[in-house]
Amino acid sequence: MIRAKITGTGSFVPSRRLTNSDLEKIVDTSDEWITSRTGISERRICAENESQSDMSCQAVAAAMEMAGAKPEEIDLLLIGTVTPDFRLPSSSCIVQQKLGLINAATMDIVAACAGFLHSLSIADAYIKIGQYKKIVVVGAEKLSSITDYTDRNSCVLFGDGAGAVLVEAVEGDKGVLSTFMKSDGNLAELLWIPEGGSNTPPDKLNGDASKTFINMAGKEVYKHAVRQMVDASKRVIEGAGLKPEDVTMMVPHQANIRIIESVAKKLGVSMDKVFLNLPKYGNTSAASVPLAFDEANREGKIKDGDIILMTAFGGGLTWASALVRM
Ligand code: ACO
Repeated sequence: MIRAKITGTGSFVPSRRLTNSDLEKIVDTSDEWITSRTGISERRICAENESQSDMSCQAVAAAMEMAGAKPEEIDLLLIGTVTPDFRLPSSSCIVQQKLGLINAATMDIVAACAGFLHSLSIADAYIKIGQYKKIVVVGAEKLSSITDYTDRNSCVLFGDGAGAVLVEAVEGDKGVLSTFMKSDGNLAELLWIPEGGSNTPPDKLNGDASKTFINMAGKEVYKHAVRQMVDASKRVIEGAGLKPEDVTMMVPHQANIRIIESVAKKLGVSMDKVFLNLPKYGNTSAASVPLAFDEANREGKIKDGDIILMTAFGGGLTWASALVRM
């Protein structure tokens, strides 16, 4: 059987740190509140001249180097993102040009924090039908560009970063075993950017800047996040004919430590199997899972044959899980 095997991983975060004590100076919050309610200590923020595509390029180049892949060998580049450099062209076209992926088709996938896992699921399908052999899958976000730094309910959560994997068509039992993705547009207004889209072009903006940033009903999102990540994860584990105890490592969307602990508990996966880098980076949306996956990989925590569960949840609402044998 042909499977999409992960042969390289890479990631990048900007060097500028935004700590909880920095945020105490900007909004009415405290390190104690942020740490106890979210588990986040600091996040990385792009410099003015640092773009989402710059971060993507660093992550993609590192993944290709690990896999020993040449730019011209890449058939498809998928970037999960809600923060492309431009509305037009796509971020993936810009990254293609910067890295010389001259033979690749490219697409941006808009599924908020679940954008990387949606992209991985699409890559898996293209490999299984035999259309492509080498696909780069990226999650990358410059969330600082859509974060309202006057809103303490959301600004303490978000950071910038990028992560990438290279998947290759390989015969055997290693690679993506199963995926599941789902959306519920009825819940769109729980997590959205009300203005700045084609309904409100620049000349129609009403001057309320807060509506051009992320607006989030945190408590509601929280409940759906736990329920749907558990459901999606059960589906991929069952879909692969495995049990929760077979999971070697869970790499969840790094949104909130309390969400992650609830998901792990409900699934029956112990917290010592959960990879966390949330304290350092906060919620980097689509970048979250591949950034964590790359860190775990480069720290030598992922071994040959390991069963890795990835799961994510975001605006849309969207959610997805994937189960991979390394
Ligand atoms: N500092 C201090 N107090 C705060 C802060 C803050 N940064 N933020 C909120 N509070 C206050 C609230 O105003 C509220 O005060 P009140 O009781 O006087 O009204 C109190 O703290 C409790 O607020 P809650 O919203 O009930 O806090 P909760 O425990 O739910 O935590 C949080 C809020 C962290 C946002 C949580 O709900 C959460 O993580 N939700 C999920 C968000 C998420 O994961 N989104 C994922 C997708 S992101 C994407 O797609 C881009």
